[in-house]
Amino acid sequence: MRHLRVPSAETQHWLEICRNRGWLQSGAGVLSLENGKKGIPLSIRAPQESDSQWNGNSIFMADGIIKGPEHWSEHLPSELVEEIKDEIPNSYEIQGDILIVKLEEKIRKHGPVIAEAMIKQLPSVRLVCADNGVTGEFRVRDLQPLAARANDISTITQIRENGVLISTDPTKVYFSARLSKEREDNLSSAKELRKKLSRPLRVCDPYAGVGPSLASLLREQNLVSECYAGDLNPDAFDLLQDNIHSFISKSDVPLTTLSVKNIDARKWVEEQGCIDKIDFLLVNLPHHSLEHLPDLLPLMSKDSISVIRGWAIIDRESLMSQEENISSMIKQTGGEVKSVTCSEVKGFSSSKIFMRFESWQKFH
Ligand SMILES: C[S@@+](CC[C@H](N)C(=O)[O-])C[C@H]1O[C@@H](n2cnc3c(N)ncnc32)[C@H](O)[C@@H]1O
Repeated sequence: MRHLRVPSAETQHWLEICRNRGWLQSGAGVLSLENGKKGIPLSIRAPQESDSQWNGNSIFMADGIIKGPEHWSEHLPSELVEEIKDEIPNSYEIQGDILIVKLEEKIRKHGPVIAEAMIKQLPSVRLVCADNGVTGEFRVRDLQPLAARANDISTITQIRENGVLISTDPTKVYFSARLSKEREDNLSSAKELRKKLSRPLRVCDPYAGVGPSLASLLREQNLVSECYAGDLNPDAFDLLQDNIHSFISKSDVPLTTLSVKNIDARKWVEEQGCIDKIDFLLVNLPHHSLEHLPDLLPLMSKDSISVIRGWAIIDRESLMSQEENISSMIKQTGGEVKSVTCSEVKGFSSSKIFMRFESWQKFH
């Protein structure tokens, strides 16, 4: 392949000229040469060395560095790219080896071709599914498989988070990889509470899904002495049961109680031995967390400090009043509030936000 030899400092300048004039060989990379020079790969449309447009730079023959396509859309037929260029999806989500993509109505019929292109480009992706929105009581996504590597269309996959493998099935249960930072912060708060109490914690995650929050808590040595976890979605419960055993660390202080149930979170108060017990509670049902909170407070331990971390979708303008709102729920259940902080994690819609709250209190 012909290459244009240019001084290194002029590489960008000549790349731009070649690109604009159709002289750049696509799919090939720039060569690094001796004496600080670079070799720009030329297409067959580029003029001969004698052409004055090269400003005296020489042309030489060399094997080019062939780069693969940089974007999955480069695997699509060029006529299709031209037809759908304004609707080409520019983002997607990956859970394990499953890629989930939202397709505009206009390009849905091209879903299988788009999915094949994505599989060609992304070696770690096995299955591509179209995301047709959230459905049902458990807000699970309606996913339509579009293409699979080696025809393996299983929707069960494993996600690695903070060194732990978590099995999930995005067609049946909720999981958000984007909230992994929140889970890291759960761990920091739990460690701080352990320090204050000078003992491992009794933890409850009643909306556990497949258990990502428990993965980080249970993996930490000597952090959890008792664990109460559940989910109302039977599919999430099945996966949670399988996952949770793989999370448990070999601590000096063993886990004395592990209770995993397929129940409504508000029913934990009816479970024997759960009331007045929990040091660290997670409340993760964002559309209803604040509504459910009063029903969960009787679970909290008495006469020692405890922590609640939760997430809620609220009206943007109500953020300022949420600390007071949560404080008053705690006080009404006999709690002495040490601190409540409410912060925006991300926007949810034009008028709503996704908020995290963390409260430290002592119930009497
Ligand atoms: C937002 S997800 C959180 C899942 C998990 N904690 C995570 O971070 O991935 C909420 C979970 O609560 C479950 N759920 C919905 N209503 C419930 C209820 N009344 N009681 C217990 N779990 C419920 C859903 O099935 C879902 O798995």
